[in-house]
Amino acid sequence: MEFKSIISHCKEYGFIYQSSEIYDGLAAVYDYGPYGVELKNNIKQYWWKSMVQMHENIVGIDAAIFMHPKTWKASGHVDAFNDPLVDNKDSKKRYRADQLVEGYCEKIENKIKKDVVKAQKRFGDSFDEGQFRSTNQRILDRQAEIDRVMGLLGTHMKNGDMAGLKQLIEDLEIACPESGSRNWTDVRQFNLMFNTQLGNIAGEEGKLYLRPETAQGIFVNFLNVQKTTRQKIPFGIAQIGKAFRNEIVARQFIFRMREFEQMEMQFFVKPGTEMEWYKHWKATRLQWHKNLGVPESKLRYHDHDNLAHYANAAVDIEYEFPFGFRELEGIHSRTDFDLTSHQELSGKKLQYFDVEENKNYVPYVVETSIGCDRMFLAQVSLALQEETVPDANGKESTRTVMKLNPAVAPIKCAVLPLLKNKEELTNAAADVTKELKKSMNVQYDEKDTIGRRYRRQDAVGTPYCVTVDFETLENHTVTLRDRDSLSQERVAIADLPKIVGGKVGMENIL
Ligand code: GAP
Repeated sequence: MEFKSIISHCKEYGFIYQSSEIYDGLAAVYDYGPYGVELKNNIKQYWWKSMVQMHENIVGIDAAIFMHPKTWKASGHVDAFNDPLVDNKDSKKRYRADQLVEGYCEKIENKIKKDVVKAQKRFGDSFDEGQFRSTNQRILDRQAEIDRVMGLLGTHMKNGDMAGLKQLIEDLEIACPESGSRNWTDVRQFNLMFNTQLGNIAGEEGKLYLRPETAQGIFVNFLNVQKTTRQKIPFGIAQIGKAFRNEIVARQFIFRMREFEQMEMQFFVKPGTEMEWYKHWKATRLQWHKNLGVPESKLRYHDHDNLAHYANAAVDIEYEFPFGFRELEGIHSRTDFDLTSHQELSGKKLQYFDVEENKNYVPYVVETSIGCDRMFLAQVSLALQEETVPDANGKESTRTVMKLNPAVAPIKCAVLPLLKNKEELTNAAADVTKELKKSMNVQYDEKDTIGRRYRRQDAVGTPYCVTVDFETLENHTVTLRDRDSLSQERVAIADLPKIVGGKVGMENIL
């Protein structure tokens, strides 16, 4: 489905609203509606269960968003958490210099894609895309230009060369998408951390940051957790929580937000074993996505060429969003950078005594970090489909359906009395609802025709609908409709919790 249709579906069906919409909204900040919050909570539950509760050696915490300001000095965020900013003097619009250059390459990439599509049409079934891409001169030239420009971009970013970036924008004759002018300011570094002020301390001393990642709450608590849980290395600490980044250009709906949620796990290991664990978590995290039903073709690894200041290896798990493959999750080998920095700046030892080795050391860390909102967007864009199905009269009709994995679907089962003005039916349906609510999230709905109610449940991803009809009153059975196959079976009310529960439980994907 087209990206803009996904966005409007999310609003229309109560998944996501623009923040403060009545005041014309706040850019890149979003609120989750009644269905959205359920889906998001289920995604978080899936992560928490598989990462924390299914592991003997991983425990969870919930650290505060505010941390001592020295935390961010030690972590490197005060000095190095920057994006290159450039303003267009005519439109007064701000851009990320690196994204302007990437946009230039994307345009070339789109031309390549068009050529491929044209050739595909011309050659039909005998078309070999790999061969075409590696032999067609125009494509080879275009690809060489992309490689050249991305190479230069990488070098300038790595060296923090702002003048080089400005020169590149000028050499490529990149114009402002808004004004069409090439009247750019110099490129300068822009720190992405939001800050605020403590009430009782004036000036720099009272400056506080809103955490830009949840990871630091784990690092500063490393010894507290290790001592209170008596964990032995290797072990992990996980948390889910809000993070804030003052993104210069926030685009693509909930893909890049200024307030978002992360699900992070820091795994503490013996120095020298980090690469083994890095490989382990890289594979484990990819499998987590597949277990939820994400097809392999929609996922890929992307190794980082330019490593962050703290990492000695890093890979992204990318997902094919409607606007292309983008980072969904990061796995980083963070060495002992964070613990050592905190140890130095705080003057407190952050070491582990290894009984087997009979020595103290600062553990190395392998991190897995996924944005909850990006995972939400990936799930919705994968699940939302339009398809042609037979309606109640056997005629073809189009339906919008969200084929979410039942384990994360907001509503597991809808209970629908066949008619709303027959009290026997509504009472029986209310009883079924009450019973099922004990074990799952259920919705009772009596408005509109039964066909319309099915469609509404399809649109929010409800995997099962129970219909209470006149036969129910005779033999205590109901029809159970499957969202994806549209099949309907007659089942006893007494068996519903077991049958539906067995199909929608999180245990199916753990
Ligand atoms: N602790 C490591 C860390 O924060 P990151 O790659 O900057 O690494 C991790 O962020 C994940 O957080 C990303 O893979 C992405 O899913 C999510 N994320 C980062 N910035 C985001 C933003 N502005 N909006 C939504 N999600 C974001």
